[in-house]
Amino acid sequence: MASCPYLNSSMVLSKPKQPAVSFPPLDFLNSQHLSSSSSTSPISSVRCRSRQTNHRHSLVRASMDKPRKPLKIMISGAPASGKGTQCELITSKYDLVHIAAGDLLRAEIAAGSENGKRAKEYMEKGQLVPDEIVVMMVKDRLSQPDSAEKGWLLDGYPRSSSQATALQAFGFKPDLFILLEVPEEILVDRVVGRRLDPVTGRIYHLTYSPPETEEIAARLTQRFDDTEEKVKLRLQTHNQNVESVLSLFEDITVKVDGGLSKEVVFAKIDSALSNLIEQNNAILGMAAT
Ligand code: AP5
Repeated sequence: MASCPYLNSSMVLSKPKQPAVSFPPLDFLNSQHLSSSSSTSPISSVRCRSRQTNHRHSLVRASMDKPRKPLKIMISGAPASGKGTQCELITSKYDLVHIAAGDLLRAEIAAGSENGKRAKEYMEKGQLVPDEIVVMMVKDRLSQPDSAEKGWLLDGYPRSSSQATALQAFGFKPDLFILLEVPEEILVDRVVGRRLDPVTGRIYHLTYSPPETEEIAARLTQRFDDTEEKVKLRLQTHNQNVESVLSLFEDITVKVDGGLSKEVVFAKIDSALSNLIEQNNAILGMAAT
């Protein structure tokens, strides 16, 4: 297994394999570029030298942390694996445009549109909403100027190989595919205890992430598909499709143990994103010289 600084027993990089859809390889996940001691990587050596020399170098280091190229990230995982929770944390640090397929569908339902009515029939059964509804919805959101300018964080899409292929055909290529892995016995508990704040959009859990005040607690709502019965159906759908999607993104996949606390999960994702930014910036720097 590659010995990247952010890869450990709870975070496993998938085996390299020829992807069916060609995405740029993640050189920064390669042990030849980043060692666990952080001393052999070109990027890490910049970091070490800057510590030993002067403040000017720390400014260089700081500028390397800031993405010069918008990030394009996908996050995937079973129902209640923590995708939405991590997206809140990622967007607040990296200012990416968060595009959640489930949220787009729920917005259609709330608007009472024809697509929303059709989508709800599938969501009630824990099934995938047909591509003709989902694909264009996601494509339209990705095509907005803010997504191109700031970068995007795609949550819960693609969920099938046909959705992945459609995205590729539209020219949207991710830099990184994050997969949250959580044991199934934890997922049901997370789903039934989940609550949402309709005012701030924040995700809570009655036990693991309780609301801060009585006022917030009083206004929390529950999703119509957050029952034990429905989450089992959603899980079945996830298990049927996840491998076909993963196989398309193997070379850019980072698997994270999502059963840990949300802060620890975020620290691992944060580390992967920082390394990706450094790698991208180093490549751009080399191209400029
Ligand atoms: P969607 O809304 O995407 O639901 P999902 O995939 O089932 O995922 P969830 O939103 O339930 O969970 P999450 O992983 O975001 O977890 P969260 O952070 O909230 O999709 C709904 C439906 O829409 C699908 O079933 C399908 O029908 C349809 N659909 C969506 N996308 C589609 C697509 N691409 N194609 C076709 N159909 C599509 O966390 C859950 C709870 O756990 C919270 O209470 C949180 O506080 C807690 N929690 C989170 N992390 C931790 C942690 N580390 N420790 C303890 N508690 C935690």
